[in-house]
Amino acid sequence: MRIVLGVGGGIAAYKVASLLRLFTEAGHNVTVIPTEASTRFVGTATWEALSGNPVSNSVFDDVHQVNHVRLGHEADLVVIAPATADLLAKAATGQAGDLLTNTLLMAHGPVLFAPAMHTEMWQHAATRANVETLRSRGAAVLEPATGRLTGADSGPGRLPEPEAIFDAAMALLQGPSDFQLPLAGRTVTISAGGTREPLDPVRFLGNRSSGKQGVALAVAARNAGASVRLLAAHMEVPPPAGVDVVQVETALQLRKAALAAAADSDAVIMSAAVADFRPAEVSDTKIKKRDDTADPVITLVRNPDILQELVELRNGTAGQKQQLIVGFAAETGDSDGGVLAHAQAKLQRKGCDLLVVNHVGTDKVFGQDTNSVVILARAGSEPQEASGTKTEVSAAIISRIGYELNSVSPRA
Ligand SMILES: Cc1cc2nc3c(=O)[nH]c(=O)nc-3n(C[C@H](O)[C@H](O)[C@H](O)COP(=O)(O)O)c2cc1C
Repeated sequence: MRIVLGVGGGIAAYKVASLLRLFTEAGHNVTVIPTEASTRFVGTATWEALSGNPVSNSVFDDVHQVNHVRLGHEADLVVIAPATADLLAKAATGQAGDLLTNTLLMAHGPVLFAPAMHTEMWQHAATRANVETLRSRGAAVLEPATGRLTGADSGPGRLPEPEAIFDAAMALLQGPSDFQLPLAGRTVTISAGGTREPLDPVRFLGNRSSGKQGVALAVAARNAGASVRLLAAHMEVPPPAGVDVVQVETALQLRKAALAAAADSDAVIMSAAVADFRPAEVSDTKIKKRDDTADPVITLVRNPDILQELVELRNGTAGQKQQLIVGFAAETGDSDGGVLAHAQAKLQRKGCDLLVVNHVGTDKVFGQDTNSVVILARAGSEPQEASGTKTEVSAAIISRIGYELNSVSPRA
């Protein structure tokens, strides 16, 4: 496919080099049109070298080809990233002062804007009106991500991650008519990793969860347009860019963070491996190995069931946001029943909306890059299987969550 990639004059212009790479590696022919201001951030040599195509932003270069007409007609898709406040305003008012804005007026195919600017600029009435105008004309304008901006400040206005823009662009190429990212405008809370329950200042009871599945879910939700809050217990992988991270260690800390985060979330995905038990007593000092006393005995007490509490809070509190609550279960079959029978019973018991079931025992889940799950719904629909890399499994889970959130049936 032929893609025109317009680059605006924002600090995030450098991230668009990664986006360009994603397009070219997927086999697309990309012509980059950087605005004059953007070349103060990233020079044209970068775009020429990475795209393999000549770069200009003047309608008076190669006049014999009438570039704006040719590019506008030939492009299967125009992507503007970062779409600055200035470019959104120019596009909304139909200005045509350079090659990029001329090409936008000539474009026959879908147009995708990936905005990036300071929160005040994004929320300004003028920008809101420009975005509305562009959307009403059929352009796809992504919601910017929330997070760290140019300076120390943070808020909505960050350029969506290159992978998210890429996914949106590919979705547009497939079906531009009523394009919207499935989780646009949604807030999704995801717990990941394994909790650690301290015994003393140096020891803890932990588990083998790597956090890879939870992080892959966070990436998939982010790429689907959601604002993502990652409640990160111990993880062997770093949290992804473009998500808000809340660090937790114990089940009790995770409980507190999850109950607080749920209040304004559209979906809560509890994929962390949470300890069922914790030591009844935590020693302030290191427990010593001594010959003159008996070996210590560790007494365990139950941790609260966070998933069940989330459901109870949602169902029992008037005015509480009706989040979609997704649990994870690692099940084995035994003499009382198979994996699915146990999982169905758990789904009924917990009352969550979706339960993602790992069949443990036949293959290992912890630390692996692949996974195989069955998604069960409380409504009693057919179990949905998903397997492959944790990225692929996450895409299936997030897509199902998008479907559930966007379908009209109310939850209990
Ligand atoms: C360091 C710096 C960072 C900037 N970042 C942004 C930004 O992220 N978004 C934005 O809308 N404008 C930003 N601006 C302002 C734009 O560069 C300015 O509005 C310019 O006219 C945009 O031109 P364009 O139409 O080529 O994008 C920034 C300016 C500077 C000096």
